[in-house]
Amino acid sequence: MTTPLRLGIAGLGTVGVGVVKIVRQKANLLATRTGRPVVITAVSARSRDKDRGVNLNDYAWETDPVALAKRDDVDVFVELMGGHEGPAKDAIEAAIASGKDVVTANKALLAHHGQELAQAAEAKGCIIRFEAAVAGGIPVIKSLTEGLAGNDITRVMGVMNGTCNYILTRMQDAGLPYEEVFAEADALGYLEADPNLDVGGIDAGHKLALLASIAFGTKVNFDEMELEGIQRISSADIHYAAELGYKIKLLGVAQLSGRGLEQRMSPCLVPADSPLGQLKGGTNMVVLEGDAVEQVVLRGPGAGEGPTASAVMGDVCDVARGFRMSTFGVPAESLEDATAAQSNSPAPYYLRMELLDRPGALAKVATALGESGVSIDRMRQSQHEGTEAPVLIVTHKTQRSALTDAIERMQTTGVLASDPVALRIETV
Ligand code: HSE
Repeated sequence: MTTPLRLGIAGLGTVGVGVVKIVRQKANLLATRTGRPVVITAVSARSRDKDRGVNLNDYAWETDPVALAKRDDVDVFVELMGGHEGPAKDAIEAAIASGKDVVTANKALLAHHGQELAQAAEAKGCIIRFEAAVAGGIPVIKSLTEGLAGNDITRVMGVMNGTCNYILTRMQDAGLPYEEVFAEADALGYLEADPNLDVGGIDAGHKLALLASIAFGTKVNFDEMELEGIQRISSADIHYAAELGYKIKLLGVAQLSGRGLEQRMSPCLVPADSPLGQLKGGTNMVVLEGDAVEQVVLRGPGAGEGPTASAVMGDVCDVARGFRMSTFGVPAESLEDATAAQSNSPAPYYLRMELLDRPGALAKVATALGESGVSIDRMRQSQHEGTEAPVLIVTHKTQRSALTDAIERMQTTGVLASDPVALRIETV
């Protein structure tokens, strides 16, 4: 058999341990499939003494991931530490400088530094693979770069944060408030160390930015993405959306229009009977649209030991087979700068607000909408006690800019008891 492919794994958390297990348990399968043994030579993690439930005795130990990345007996540096600055970045840079290929699950790092890392890798003849960074076990990067290579990609959409999808579906199914389900997700260990990465839409935004780069041949532009989290979604929103025939999802949409690159990650209403509407729990779904293929829907686990390790191993096997491709599917130098454009394609909007319950309040809201050119499709004010009246409005198709204008007008009227919640009703 030919030369083994030697892995150095930095980070032995859930995913790192999953990778070690697959390499150990499936040695024969991997060797048969790739034509060469795939072995681990060295590992690195914060604590050496922790019992991780896997035998690490056969591997050299490095306390410093940079030292691991530079080792002569490592061909592929597998970065599973996370974090978009600090050790993960230093170690990947060191691996590239040493001429090693990199496999990583680090969406934050690539969303912030993907362009420079891709250029550095290409200058050294190395590759960076990151299937595990986007949508866990779903082979979405492979689908885009290989399976759909003959398409002009027209739109990429997806639910790509399992924690948010868990919170939203649990609020729906159990009728629980956001705060209670958030605490539940925390207790179950679903939340990132910084929960805002999940519920603020940032983690999902990182993933969408990476997919947009591959899909449209543009430089990763996370900084200019329209980003909104799920923190303001209430049980009432979930309930009203259901009454209207919709589910609320943290949905990412990216498309390249004549105006530029539109990227938004925000809570949206999607039809309850659509594949996205039916997505439950921590599952992810990515919808890819191309001029030739029309639409492809990919669904699968978005996180966890097995699914994420599965994606890492897909990349490792590609390297073992000698399959090489530019980081974002085309040479980094040819990725274009795309002007960020606000997503302004018209859509109906769901608008929930609380009004001070006094004469003329509703009329002022209706006037603000009318003056901004926003037409009301449906409206209801529910039975309530106290001084604040919950009002729900569904608009006809309008541009987001017109709605923003209307909300600003409403805010000057003094009749709003809180900021309105405005959610796009998405056609999927
Ligand atoms: N926290 C992410 C999620 C997994 O809930 O989907 C890692 O990106």
